[in-house]
Amino acid sequence: MDQIIVTGNGALSGQIPIAGAKNACLTLMPATLLSDEPLTLTNAPRLSDIRTMSTLLQSLGAEVQALQDGQVLAMSSHDLTSTRAEYDIVRKMRASILVLGPLLSRFGHAEVSLPGGCAIGARPVDLHLKALEAMGAKLELRDGYVHATAPSGGLRGGVVEFPFVSVGATENALMAATLAKGTTVLKNAAREPEIVDLAQCLQKMGARIEGEGTSEITIEGVDRLGGATHRVVTDRIELGTYMLAPAICGGEVECLGGRIDLLSAFCEKLDAAGISVEETAAGLKVARKNGRIRAVDVTTEPFPGFPTDLQAQMMALLCTADGTSVLEEKIFENRFMHAPELMRMGAKIDVHGGTATVTGVERLKGAPVMATDLRASVSLILAGLAAEGETVVSRVYHLDRGYEHVVRKLEAVGAKIERVKEQ
Ligand code: EPU
Repeated sequence: MDQIIVTGNGALSGQIPIAGAKNACLTLMPATLLSDEPLTLTNAPRLSDIRTMSTLLQSLGAEVQALQDGQVLAMSSHDLTSTRAEYDIVRKMRASILVLGPLLSRFGHAEVSLPGGCAIGARPVDLHLKALEAMGAKLELRDGYVHATAPSGGLRGGVVEFPFVSVGATENALMAATLAKGTTVLKNAAREPEIVDLAQCLQKMGARIEGEGTSEITIEGVDRLGGATHRVVTDRIELGTYMLAPAICGGEVECLGGRIDLLSAFCEKLDAAGISVEETAAGLKVARKNGRIRAVDVTTEPFPGFPTDLQAQMMALLCTADGTSVLEEKIFENRFMHAPELMRMGAKIDVHGGTATVTGVERLKGAPVMATDLRASVSLILAGLAAEGETVVSRVYHLDRGYEHVVRKLEAVGAKIERVKEQ
């Protein structure tokens, strides 16, 4: 297993290119299952989660070719051979459940292993299942698998009212509804940019969708979908992560491809903390020129609120703020596992249930720390960039799920960071 060694090295300066969004790509890829014509994605990120989704699609008989060093994914589901997603692949990645809606909608039946729990919370899939039931699906849970069957004429339109916002359930329902008979209305739908990106790709394939980006999405089912070529939207979480690098270390970094509208609540918090964010022709320029970070309170919420996927990284920033910050995690019940690791670096954090109170210290100190999940691992790298001395982050395979070339990107702006084989 690899480790990442980071040494505090002062202010950063330069440019960081931001990749296409992991979480958009993970829902765009299963959209290929809806059509027998090719779907090509450009601006795909090179990540292990994307390779896992490729393996899953290939296990169903889909063709997935990674071209141009993995930035282009050429897919075809013309000759699918199976509608069963096996546990061995699904257990590696929860987003595998996103094949359920498309398979059921196009073929009238599907079997998908239940994903099981994960490090940041229980993460059930009940809302995905209820949405499909509202379209007439019969579901049975047997041997750890969801066995789903559509009525004889296929799924039919229905009204799906989500009791709370779920990104994945909205995506599954949206994809399934494109081929259902009649009109489907998704109420209290997720509004994330990744949902808008999915809807735009489905529209290019011939789907009739209105209201994406609002909490009510209406889908008029069509008989078949065609092929398309679609560019994956910028990864707003990778963007926010790298925006925090100069915020923590000082200096000025331009994040290429960045847009404020992808992260407006996050940008407001940076402003309140004393970090400047400026739109440029190529992206977003972030600078911290002088003075200490100001403490700010943060509550995670569905889009357009502050993203849960940036909570760990924001905590790393607030560890050295002037004053006390309160972070409330409202999306996942167990997403503060980075806190004890940051405390090993000298941070003062008090966690009670879903609330973490962070009292800023002048400077963190390097220490050996352990990554527990994707966003936690990058928060430790950010903390290490600003700490005194050397921070060794273990279990960095989590990082490869969501950040491509992290060492190269941070080195390019002056960070002292290397990846080594574990001693
Ligand atoms: N939930 C249920 N039942 C369901 C679905 C969700 O109780 O059927 C709960 C979840 O347990 C959670 C909340 O609802 O407490 C919201 O979950 P959501 O369904 O919105 O999350 P997701 O679709 O499983 C996606 C991202 C996550 C991101 C969340 C929230 C992908 C592949 N994953 O997960 O990304 O944190 O939305 O924005 O899109 C990450 O990239 O690090 C990551 C975890």
